[in-house]
Parts: sequence; structure tokens; C-alpha cells
Amino acid sequence: MTAKPRFVQPDGFKLLPGYFSPDQQRALARTVLAALDAAPLYRPCMPRTGAPLSVQMSNFGPLGWISDREGYRYQTMHPDTGAPWPPLPQALRDLWAGVGDWPDAPEACLINWYDAGARLGLHVDADEDAKFAPVVSVSLGDRARFRLGGADRKAATASFILSSGDVVVLGGPSRRCFHGVDRIYPGTSSLLPERWRPGRINLTLRRVHRSG
Ligand code: SIN
Ligand code: MN
Repeated sequence: MTAKPRFVQPDGFKLLPGYFSPDQQRALARTVLAALDAAPLYRPCMPRTGAPLSVQMSNFGPLGWISDREGYRYQTMHPDTGAPWPPLPQALRDLWAGVGDWPDAPEACLINWYDAGARLGLHVDADEDAKFAPVVSVSLGDRARFRLGGADRKAATASFILSSGDVVVLGGPSRRCFHGVDRIYPGTSSLLPERWRPGRINLTLRRVHRSG
């Protein structure tokens, strides 16, 4: 009988619980909700099949990550409004400067909004030329079960609970590892106002170009 493969936490993976205080989370959530007035959430679809994703998206920054029938890419404008994405908030620039350990500024921040039933399948972030720059993300709102594996899709995985205010860094070798979100735990945070829509927001900062 062959032994079950054991999860080995990849180098460069960091989970920083409670990086943002409750006050900072509230300020960041206000900034995100204001940006979403200008750059509304939209439901992306899978390349080729056009199957809708359960996560809704928007972006901050000079570049935004898009998925549609044509494929995955970064582009400068919102796909529905044609307007440039809102600028990257200072709190997220400061986060990158504090934990990113990378000389170039972030160029894109994907805003993922998860409702109670949303999930994100295992994937690797691979549409950036800056393949060695870290990916830094912030969780706001309801808790989620985040899954991390290895560079090989078949490698063993482990799950981590992400709560509002937590930061994840996928740096070094962990940058090329599969990860996803298995599920959301609805009603576990009151950060996102009921009159807006409760759920979970994840903000994912990325460097796209290699340098300059
Ligand atoms: C992502 O991998 O794009 C998002 C991860 C998360 O929502 O925590
Ligand atoms: Mn990802």
C-alpha cells in the first residue's frame, strides 16, 4: 500500500492573521465599496465554455485581471463600463510595501466578491510576466476555507481558515502553487453592511510587468 502524500507547506507562503485591525478593515471596506460604485462587480465567465464563475469581480489599479470567452488577461478598462479601473488605495500600496518584499509597485488588485455559495477552484496565478513577484491578498468579511497545494496539481493540499483582516502572501516557491477557496462561512462577520451585500471580499495584489 502506498502512503498518502503529506502536505509540505511551500516556502514563501505566509498567513498573517489580523494584519488589519477592525478599524482598518472598516476603512478599507468603505474604500472598496466606494470604488465598486464606479467600477461595479460583474460576473466573469470561463474561457471557451462561457460558464459563469460563482465569484463576482472588479479591479483597482492601472491593470485589471479579466476572464471571458476570449481567455484570461490584464486590461486597463472595466469590461462593462469601458472606464479605467479606480486607483489602488494607499492602504494596499502600504501593505505591499510592508509584506511584498519586491522592488516594483503592484499594478493590479483583483476584487473578488463571494456570496454564501461562491467558491474558487484550485488554480495557479499565471497571467503575469513578473512570475517571481509575490501575490499578496487581504480578506474582508465572512470567513473562508482557503486551500493550498503544491506546484503539481496532484500534490497534497491543506486548508486554512481566512478571517476578516487576515493577509496571505504567496511569495517565493509558493507563488507557483495551486490554491483556491473551498467555501465561505456565511454570517461569520458583520463587516460588510447588510444594506450592501454581506459575504466575503478578497483583494489580491499583483505585479504584472517584470520591471520599470
Ligand atoms: C485568488 O486566488 O484569486 C483569491 C483567493 C482568496 O479569495 O482568498
Ligand atoms: Mn489566485
